[in-house]
Amino acid sequence: MLSLAKLTSLVALALALSASEAQGQMVKQVVPDAQAASPRIAQPATILQPKCGTDASSSCVSLNGVKAIVSFGDSYTDCGNQRGGTCPNPVLPNGSTVPPATGATADYQYGRRASNGRTWVEDLAQNIGAQLYNFASSGATVDRNIIPASRFDNDMASEYQKFQQAAIKTNPQTTMCTFFFGINDRGKAASQDLLPKAVQKELSYVDQLKGTCSQFVFLDIRGGVFSTALQSGVANLAKQGVKATYFTYQSLFNDFVTNASKYGFKKTDPCLENTSDGAHWKLVCTPDEATNSLYYIGHHPTGKAHADMAAFLQSALTTCSTGKCGASA
Ligand SMILES: *[C@@H]1O[C@H](CO)[C@@H](O)[C@H](O)[C@H]1NC(C)=O
Ligand SMILES: *[C@@H]1O[C@H](CO)[C@@H](O)[C@H](O)[C@H]1NC(C)=O
Ligand SMILES: *[C@@H]1O[C@H](CO)[C@@H](O)[C@H](O)[C@H]1NC(C)=O
Repeated sequence: MLSLAKLTSLVALALALSASEAQGQMVKQVVPDAQAASPRIAQPATILQPKCGTDASSSCVSLNGVKAIVSFGDSYTDCGNQRGGTCPNPVLPNGSTVPPATGATADYQYGRRASNGRTWVEDLAQNIGAQLYNFASSGATVDRNIIPASRFDNDMASEYQKFQQAAIKTNPQTTMCTFFFGINDRGKAASQDLLPKAVQKELSYVDQLKGTCSQFVFLDIRGGVFSTALQSGVANLAKQGVKATYFTYQSLFNDFVTNASKYGFKKTDPCLENTSDGAHWKLVCTPDEATNSLYYIGHHPTGKAHADMAAFLQSALTTCSTGKCGASA
């Protein structure tokens, strides 16, 4: 579990990331190639086996036939947002692809992501050959009228607005919506009583997105009041016939820390720290350690950890998929 101090620093770091993102220009792009025929990646044997009912609710949600993902969330999901929902891999002015960042030079963020590589949802979309539309933005809370966002006025509402502006046409039957909020909500909530209110707001977007998605995944990581409310709220939706599932990274992150070497992590502490003058990031490990660390910027996972996050989610949604929906499930 994160200490309050660490969580606070996480929020502070997410702020700084938003600042640099906002300076980025709007780039008209191009969704990464969805390779319809690409094989589903099997979970490496070393990754924790998900437990249904704990890591993911048993539900009728399934990755089979998913051809598009529409995602909302914070810096754990953000792919260098403000760019119309697409997740371009960064390219140099001469067109060459930028390799994952090591923190050794000024390449602190991979395409303005809060990571040195791609985030879990990008890996998930590629693994299952789905088109990705990602509206997550660093620092976001669920609703800034309930709990203020970290810096910019970004929340689920502003992400939803960007989604609407992008005027994406999906086939709801083959589209999955994902929501991953709560880290900033927990960090910024003036009172714990506000967390269930934020969760209710998060769940209310299912109605607004019914014409876009037929399946809904609510991701979580930390536990506490937010998690309890989200888990029971999603269970209620599922009883009403909504194809919705609750999923949490809590066990995986505990395993990441306890059994770090199993995942190839050489470090579990972050590799980039704020300099004392606040002017810039400072690399506090070697570039090799930065690449093979659990955390990169503040308490934000490396691209390596994000790849395992994608695999764990895939495994959970496969293992815990019952094929039965609604009240009979
Ligand atoms: C593009 O620029 C980078 C950095 O200057 C260089 O390493 C790379 O070789 C260049 N690629 C091409 C195709 O010229
Ligand atoms: C670490 O690995 C051991 C051995 O596989 C396992 O028993 C333990 O539960 C793991 N720790 C966590 C936090 O998952
Ligand atoms: C770094 O720390 C300074 C001083 O505590 C603070 O003012 C600044 O906002 C921080 N910057 C980041 C990027 O967190």
